[in-house]
Amino acid sequence: MGNRTFTMIKPDAVANGHIGAILEKINGAGFRIVALKMTRLSTEKAGEFYAVHKERPFYGELVEFMSSGHIVAAILEKDNAVEDFRKLIGATNPANADAGTIRKLFAESLGRNAIHGSDSDENAAIEGSFFFSGLEQF
Ligand code: TYD
Repeated sequence: MGNRTFTMIKPDAVANGHIGAILEKINGAGFRIVALKMTRLSTEKAGEFYAVHKERPFYGELVEFMSSGHIVAAILEKDNAVEDFRKLIGATNPANADAGTIRKLFAESLGRNAIHGSDSDENAAIEGSFFFSGLEQF
Protein backbone atom coordinates (compact mmCIF):
# COMPACT_ATOMS: atom_id res chain seq x y z
CA MET A 1 0.00 0.00 0.00
CA GLY A 2 1.36 3.40 -1.00
CA ASN A 3 0.44 6.95 -0.05
CA ARG A 4 -2.84 8.56 -0.99
CA THR A 5 -3.96 11.71 -2.74
CA PHE A 6 -7.34 13.19 -3.61
CA THR A 7 -8.48 14.43 -7.03
CA MET A 8 -11.50 16.03 -8.68
CA ILE A 9 -12.11 16.10 -12.42
CA LYS A 10 -13.58 19.62 -12.66
CA PRO A 11 -16.80 20.71 -14.44
CA ASP A 12 -15.01 21.89 -17.61
CA ALA A 13 -13.35 18.50 -18.23
CA VAL A 14 -16.56 16.60 -17.38
CA ALA A 15 -18.64 18.78 -19.74
CA ASN A 16 -16.02 18.41 -22.49
CA GLY A 17 -16.19 14.59 -22.32
CA HIS A 18 -12.72 13.96 -20.88
CA ILE A 19 -13.57 11.71 -17.88
CA GLY A 20 -12.48 8.49 -19.62
CA ALA A 21 -9.25 9.89 -21.05
CA ILE A 22 -8.26 11.42 -17.71
CA LEU A 23 -8.95 8.21 -15.76
CA GLU A 24 -6.81 6.32 -18.31
CA LYS A 25 -3.93 8.76 -17.77
CA ILE A 26 -4.29 8.30 -14.00
CA ASN A 27 -4.28 4.49 -14.21
CA GLY A 28 -1.49 4.56 -16.83
CA ALA A 29 0.70 6.55 -14.44
CA GLY A 30 0.42 3.77 -11.84
CA PHE A 31 -2.25 5.14 -9.50
CA ARG A 32 -4.80 2.74 -8.02
CA ILE A 33 -8.32 4.14 -7.69
CA VAL A 34 -9.41 3.57 -4.07
CA ALA A 35 -12.74 5.47 -4.21
CA LEU A 36 -14.59 7.13 -7.13
CA LYS A 37 -17.81 9.04 -7.66
CA MET A 38 -19.54 11.48 -9.98
CA THR A 39 -21.37 14.15 -7.99
CA ARG A 40 -22.07 17.88 -7.75
CA LEU A 41 -20.99 20.60 -5.33
CA SER A 42 -23.45 23.23 -4.11
CA THR A 43 -22.00 26.76 -3.96
CA GLU A 44 -21.87 26.33 -0.18
CA LYS A 45 -19.91 23.06 -0.40
CA ALA A 46 -17.56 24.45 -3.09
CA GLY A 47 -16.93 27.48 -0.86
CA GLU A 48 -16.11 25.19 2.04
CA PHE A 49 -13.76 23.02 -0.05
CA TYR A 50 -11.80 26.10 -1.21
CA ALA A 51 -12.12 28.07 2.09
CA VAL A 52 -8.32 28.51 2.18
CA HIS A 53 -8.71 30.87 -0.84
CA LYS A 54 -11.58 32.90 0.71
CA GLU A 55 -9.68 36.21 0.64
CA ARG A 56 -8.27 35.75 -2.89
CA PRO A 57 -9.73 37.79 -5.77
CA PHE A 58 -10.57 34.65 -7.78
CA TYR A 59 -12.55 32.96 -4.96
CA GLY A 60 -16.05 33.96 -6.16
CA GLU A 61 -15.40 32.83 -9.72
CA LEU A 62 -13.79 29.60 -8.48
CA VAL A 63 -16.80 28.72 -6.30
CA GLU A 64 -19.24 29.56 -9.11
CA PHE A 65 -17.28 27.42 -11.59
CA MET A 66 -16.85 24.44 -9.25
CA SER A 67 -20.59 24.34 -8.56
CA SER A 68 -21.58 24.86 -12.23
CA GLY A 69 -21.75 21.18 -13.20
CA HIS A 70 -20.86 17.61 -12.30
CA ILE A 71 -17.42 16.72 -10.97
CA VAL A 72 -15.71 13.33 -10.50
CA ALA A 73 -14.10 12.88 -7.08
CA ALA A 74 -11.54 10.15 -6.37
CA ILE A 75 -9.02 8.92 -3.83
CA LEU A 76 -5.85 7.57 -5.45
CA GLU A 77 -3.02 5.41 -4.11
CA LYS A 78 0.62 5.12 -5.17
CA ASP A 79 4.07 5.55 -3.64
CA ASN A 80 4.75 9.29 -3.32
CA ALA A 81 1.14 9.94 -4.46
CA VAL A 82 0.78 13.67 -3.69
CA GLU A 83 3.97 14.80 -5.42
CA ASP A 84 3.72 12.38 -8.36
CA PHE A 85 0.09 13.36 -8.98
CA ARG A 86 0.93 17.10 -8.96
CA LYS A 87 3.55 16.30 -11.63
CA LEU A 88 1.00 14.32 -13.68
CA ILE A 89 -1.54 17.17 -13.66
CA GLY A 90 0.97 19.97 -14.38
CA ALA A 91 1.08 23.67 -13.45
CA THR A 92 -2.06 25.46 -12.17
CA ASN A 93 -2.12 27.60 -15.33
CA PRO A 94 -2.26 25.21 -18.33
CA ALA A 95 -0.27 27.77 -20.36
CA ASN A 96 2.67 26.94 -18.06
CA ALA A 97 2.03 23.17 -17.82
CA ASP A 98 4.52 20.70 -19.32
CA ALA A 99 3.60 18.79 -22.49
CA GLY A 100 1.71 15.57 -21.76
CA THR A 101 0.33 16.71 -18.41
CA ILE A 102 -3.42 16.47 -17.80
CA ARG A 103 -3.86 20.24 -17.58
CA LYS A 104 -1.86 20.82 -20.77
CA LEU A 105 -3.98 18.23 -22.59
CA PHE A 106 -7.44 19.01 -21.21
CA ALA A 107 -7.64 22.36 -19.35
CA GLU A 108 -9.32 25.41 -20.90
CA SER A 109 -7.69 28.17 -18.83
CA LEU A 110 -6.25 29.07 -15.40
CA GLY A 111 -9.73 29.26 -13.89
CA ARG A 112 -11.10 26.23 -15.76
CA ASN A 113 -8.12 23.93 -15.37
CA ALA A 114 -9.67 20.44 -15.65
CA ILE A 115 -8.42 18.78 -12.48
CA HIS A 116 -7.55 19.19 -8.81
CA GLY A 117 -4.76 17.43 -6.91
CA SER A 118 -4.11 17.72 -3.16
CA ASP A 119 -0.97 19.66 -2.20
CA SER A 120 -0.02 17.69 0.95
CA ASP A 121 -0.66 14.34 2.66
CA GLU A 122 -2.64 16.18 5.34
CA ASN A 123 -4.90 17.92 2.81
CA ALA A 124 -5.30 14.68 0.85
CA ALA A 125 -6.81 13.05 3.95
CA ILE A 126 -9.05 16.05 4.72
CA GLU A 127 -10.27 16.35 1.11
CA GLY A 128 -10.87 12.61 0.73
CA SER A 129 -13.01 12.63 3.86
CA PHE A 130 -14.94 15.65 2.50
CA PHE A 131 -16.40 13.34 -0.20
CA PHE A 132 -16.08 9.76 1.02
CA SER A 133 -17.17 7.81 4.09
CA GLY A 134 -14.81 5.66 6.12
CA LEU A 135 -15.95 2.45 4.41
CA GLU A 136 -15.41 3.95 0.93
CA GLN A 137 -11.86 4.90 1.89
CA PHE A 138 -10.97 1.44 3.19
P1 TYD B 1 -4.33 26.79 -6.17
O1 TYD B 1 -4.59 25.98 -4.93
O2 TYD B 1 -3.36 27.94 -6.08
O3 TYD B 1 -3.82 25.87 -7.39
P2 TYD B 1 -3.83 24.27 -7.58
O4 TYD B 1 -5.23 23.88 -7.97
O5 TYD B 1 -2.85 24.03 -8.70
O6 TYD B 1 -3.38 23.66 -6.28
O7 TYD B 1 -5.72 27.41 -6.70
C1 TYD B 1 -6.91 26.65 -6.66
C2 TYD B 1 -7.67 26.86 -7.94
O8 TYD B 1 -8.09 28.22 -8.05
C3 TYD B 1 -6.85 26.61 -9.21
O9 TYD B 1 -6.83 25.25 -9.57
C4 TYD B 1 -7.55 27.48 -10.23
C5 TYD B 1 -8.08 28.64 -9.41
N1 TYD B 1 -7.23 29.84 -9.55
C6 TYD B 1 -7.68 30.91 -10.31
O10 TYD B 1 -8.78 30.86 -10.89
N2 TYD B 1 -6.88 32.03 -10.44
C7 TYD B 1 -5.66 32.11 -9.84
O11 TYD B 1 -4.97 33.15 -9.98
C8 TYD B 1 -5.20 31.01 -9.05
C9 TYD B 1 -3.85 31.05 -8.36
C10 TYD B 1 -6.01 29.88 -8.93
